[in-house]
Amino acid sequence: MTDIIMDCDPGIDDAVALSIALNNSHLNVKLVTTVAGNVSVDKTTKNALNIINFFGKAKTVRVAAGAKQPLIKAFEDAARIHGSSGIGGYQFTHPSLVPPLKVNAVQALYNEIMQSSNPITLVATGSYTNVALLLSEYPEVAKRLTRIIAMGGSLSSGNMTSVAEFNCFTDPHAAEIMYQSGVPIVMVRLDITNKALLTHATLQTIAHLNSTGKMLYDIISADGDQNNQGVAMHDVNTIFYLLHPEFIHTQAFWIDVQTTGPANGATVGDIRGAYHNGKTNAEVCTDIDVQAFNNWFINEVKQMPF
Ligand code: BDR
Ligand code: CA
Repeated sequence: MTDIIMDCDPGIDDAVALSIALNNSHLNVKLVTTVAGNVSVDKTTKNALNIINFFGKAKTVRVAAGAKQPLIKAFEDAARIHGSSGIGGYQFTHPSLVPPLKVNAVQALYNEIMQSSNPITLVATGSYTNVALLLSEYPEVAKRLTRIIAMGGSLSSGNMTSVAEFNCFTDPHAAEIMYQSGVPIVMVRLDITNKALLTHATLQTIAHLNSTGKMLYDIISADGDQNNQGVAMHDVNTIFYLLHPEFIHTQAFWIDVQTTGPANGATVGDIRGAYHNGKTNAEVCTDIDVQAFNNWFINEVKQMPF
């Protein structure tokens, strides 16, 4: 059993990643923290609470709301992709009645990580503002984290500018702090998640498996970033990596983040080791078995409780 914390901005793909993590018997979700990203933090928090409540876990898996805006840059959401609610207009019939924790995300992360008897894996699927604040205010947590599995960045083209991916573009200063922190990082980058399309056949299959499959299908169908081949569920790749690293190739090198100018938010990989003298700060995903990803996704939904 792996103890994890999910720091996220649900968000269609965050919602799907969270649903799988909450129900996989090898993962123990100790805490969920939210950040402004796809939509405002009030909305990402509400979405996280409703997803957890859908699975009957509202009293055991608590949510702490985090940063309302990036460290320095002005906040811009992605409602054009995720809908104004963040989960494509999906309405939960029984919204959560459990409020978020009284402490903010950074304090909740600190408390959970320092008090946990097991080391924690942090899965970060939003911009990294909470993570950067945590590592800056409480550097001692770095040693208590097994690693951070972070969706974001790209080594080819971006989805915000020609070079910048959304999570890194939203808060590039936070991304740079995280990559400089010394915590082992797995970079689940956009170029790989764009390759790992869930096919329309996969989505049709889950729609008819059970009521969770239908709920996920309805949320995913609203994703404004689909193409003929299928849908990229970027954040879901973090959970796939965590459970099945054998299907994702990685290579270690150093990642820097640009924080100004036309490449703001771009990630630069020192693939040749020339700039950082061979030092590394990330295991960077370099390829994925797309068929295995689709098969795994169907199986995860099949095992959902309802
Ligand atoms: C990332 O940006 C967000 O819109 C998604 O939730 C994902 O985390 C993909 O670039
Ligand atoms: Ca996200």
